[in-house]
Parts: sequence; structure tokens; C-alpha cells
Amino acid sequence: MNGSVEQTRQTYQGWDEFYNKDFDEKLDFFKFNGRMFDVIFAQQFDRPFMDYLCKIADMIRLLAQTKMGQEKLRHLLPHKRAMLYFVQPSTRTFLSFQNACYILGLSVSESRGTSTSSEVKGESSEDTIRTFASYVDLIISRHPEAGFAEKTAWVLNQTDRPVPILNGGSGPDQHPTQALLDIYTLERSFEHIGGLDGKKIAMVGDLKRGRTVRSLSYLMKNYKDVSLYYISPDIFKMKDDIINFLKKHDIPYFETDDFESVMPLVDAIYMTRIQKEYSDDPSGESDTYPEFHFKKEHLSIIQPHCTIMHPLPRRYEIEVEVDKDPRAAYWRQERNGMWIRAALIAYIFRVESEIFAEFS
Ligand code: NCD
Repeated sequence: MNGSVEQTRQTYQGWDEFYNKDFDEKLDFFKFNGRMFDVIFAQQFDRPFMDYLCKIADMIRLLAQTKMGQEKLRHLLPHKRAMLYFVQPSTRTFLSFQNACYILGLSVSESRGTSTSSEVKGESSEDTIRTFASYVDLIISRHPEAGFAEKTAWVLNQTDRPVPILNGGSGPDQHPTQALLDIYTLERSFEHIGGLDGKKIAMVGDLKRGRTVRSLSYLMKNYKDVSLYYISPDIFKMKDDIINFLKKHDIPYFETDDFESVMPLVDAIYMTRIQKEYSDDPSGESDTYPEFHFKKEHLSIIQPHCTIMHPLPRRYEIEVEVDKDPRAAYWRQERNGMWIRAALIAYIFRVESEIFAEFS
């Protein structure tokens, strides 16, 4: 991560053993008093939680429409401080979390790189995170290493000052809060046609290295009769761990490289970009895979209600001309990230009943 000083790479006793445990065995470790404390994996969310969180997000969105409502929201958590530790590039996740904090009145500190922190002196990222915990009440992290958020939560939960960790993206592994906003967007898009249950969802692009499609796939276990269409070049097919998860939960899935044949069939198309940054040789990856792009001409073959999504940033995957079509949901989707993240923070600090009380 930095070339000048070698990082301290002390091993944490017991970490490897914990990391390799089955997910179900780890779940309780990220809870506090029976409630979710750290948000590390998408598998932590069940259907009641998803429905509840979407409801909180709706209430926050409504309250935020007025000055008085915004003032109420700002008075919920002015006594709390959050740290945004984002050492991997981010625009939306960073800004939506930061603004979610502002909405609820939290103060925010940030570190967006390791070059100005003591990591330059050889401090490990885990020790750096532990230091943040000395000053703040919530840590939101984005890191290039798979399992990083999990490890820091595991370290902190064994100290006398654990603070919640929210995973804002851990390498090519998981992006659970992106999955929350994706579900919120899907549920809102299908509000008048029975919600997400029973829908056909296509995920397109680099499914192998894209953490968003991985986390979103996990969440599908919470919805009835959803089927997935994985559309990718052969080299970027969804990995076996997710495929095995779908099999275990009887979620039907189809894999193909023929995007156009799937377009008319599905209720949502989730586009993703090629994740070159995880390549051993990024300059060797110059192909843009045009067969996996959504073009203006495709608008006439998709269903009238089909929702077009993208976690963004976009490169070539969706033609700009598509943006004007009402089915293009990606700009709404990124704003939904702020509402659902505010809902999550309200939930973590147990203030959602004060939000509901505004409507009773
Ligand atoms: C995604 C990410 O970082 O994984 N972006 C985001 O958080 N909205 C998708 C991507 O970078 O392709």
C-alpha cells in the first residue's frame, strides 16, 4: 500500500481461524444485544430487516423534504462522531455516507489515503482503525483488501472500545451497503407491480471481480421467486461461491454471453463495468466488451417497466443517450444510497423509533 516504509505485518492470533469459519457461525460476533452492530456482509440482512430499513429510508426521505423535518433529523445524533476511512477511490459511497451523517447530525472526520496517516511510519491498518475508535463512535471503511472490514470489526470487538464498522467496500469481495441501496431502488421501481418478489433480474459485465453483483446476489435469498440472469464474457463469469449459494437457496439462475436475447425477458438490468484495477496486468485489458453494453437502440426491446441500473461509475457500459429514458434508474439509485445509508446509521444507533414517531 505504500512503498517507502514496510508495514508492520504482525499476525493477529486467531484471525485466520475466524476468517475461515462458516458465515453462520460468525453472525453473532457482529451483533450487540441481539441487534446488528457491524455491517460486514450482505448475508447479515434478512427480509424483515430489509423491509424495516426501506421503511426507515422512506420516512427519512419524507422528513428531509421540509426544513422542519431536516431539523428534526439533525437533532437525532449530534452527539455522535463518525470516521470515514476510504483508502480506495470512491465518489458516491463516500459522499452518500458523509451526507447521510450530516442528515442525522453526526460530525464526520475523514482519511482518504494512507500517505498522510501513521501508516507511512509502518503502522498497520488494523492499528490505525483502532486509533480511530479512540475518537469516534462509528467507522465506515473502504479498502482494497478482501476481508478488511471483517478483520477490523473482529479486532475492535475484542477491545474495550468497540465501535460499529460499516463496510463501504472490501476489495473484490463485498459491498453490502451498495446492495442495500440496490434493493431499495428495485423495491421502489416495482412498487406498483408487487415489489421485487417474482422478478427476473439480469446482472451484466464483470461478475467475477465486481463486488456489487456479489453482495446483491446474496440478498436475493430474501425475496420470493426471483430469478437471476448472469450475462458476461466467459472470463468474467460469476464465481463458484455465489453459484453454490444460489443452489443452496434454490434461487434459479441462468448464465449466458448473449445479452440481447435476455433483454426482453427481464424486469431489471443491472450493468457493471470491467474492474481493471483488480487485474495483474491492467494495461493488458483494453477490450471494452461492446456486446455487453446497453445502447440506445436496446430501449425498444426491453419491457416498458424494465429498470436499468448501474452502481456507477460508468465507462462505456451504458450510452449517455439512455439517461433520458424514464427506465434509466442509476441517477436515482445513487441518491437512494444516501437515504438508505442514513436509515442504516439511524438503525445502528437505535433512533429509528424517533423517526417513526414523527408520523404517528
Ligand atoms: C462500485 C464499487 O466501488 O464497487 N461503485 C460504487 O460503490 N458505487 C462499482 C464500481 O466501482 O464499479
